[in-house]
Amino acid sequence: MSEDILPNEAAEEAIRTLVREFYVIARADDLLGPIFNSVVKDWDGHLATMSDFWSGALLGTDRYKAAPFPPHLKLDMGQEHFDRWAELWAPAARQHLPEPLGEKAASMGNGMSHCWGRAFVSMKQQMAEAEAS
Ligand code: HEM
Repeated sequence: MSEDILPNEAAEEAIRTLVREFYVIARADDLLGPIFNSVVKDWDGHLATMSDFWSGALLGTDRYKAAPFPPHLKLDMGQEHFDRWAELWAPAARQHLPEPLGEKAASMGNGMSHCWGRAFVSMKQQMAEAEAS
C-alpha cells in the first residue's frame, strides 16, 4: 500500500476520469490512435482494466493482477510510440488528478514509458533475430 496516498473513492474516481480522458486524446493521436482503434474491441473493458492498473500503481490496490507488458509485444510499434504516450500522459495526469497524485502519475508514466520502450525495442529485435535464424 502506498504510504503517502491512501486509496479512497475520490482518488479512484479521479483515476477513472484520467483514464477516460487520456484515451479520448490517445485515440485521436496520429501515431497512437490507429493502434488503439484497431486492436481494442471492448473499450469499456479496456478502460476498466487501465483504471485498475493505475489504481494499483498509484494507490497500491490489487485489482489488476495481470502482467501488463506482454500484450504489447504483439503490437507493431517502437520507442517513438512510448515517447508519444508519455507526452500525452503526463499533462493529462496533472490535469485530472489532485496533487500529489498528478505528479506521481506523470513521473511514473515517464519512467514506465522509458523502461518499457527500451525493453520493447530490445525484445522485438531478439524476436526478429530468432525468427530469421
Ligand atoms: C508505458 C506506457 C504504457 C503503459 C503503462 C501501458 C499499460 C497498459 C496496460 C496495463 C494494458 C492492459 C494489459 C492487460 O490486458 O492486462 C495495456 C494494453 C494495451 N496497450 Fe498499453 N501501455 C503503455 C503504452 C502503450 C503504447 C505506447 C501503446 C500504443 C498504442 C499501447 C497500446 C496498448 C493496446 C493496444 C493494449 C490492448 C492490448 C490487448 O488488449 O490486446 N500501450 N497497456
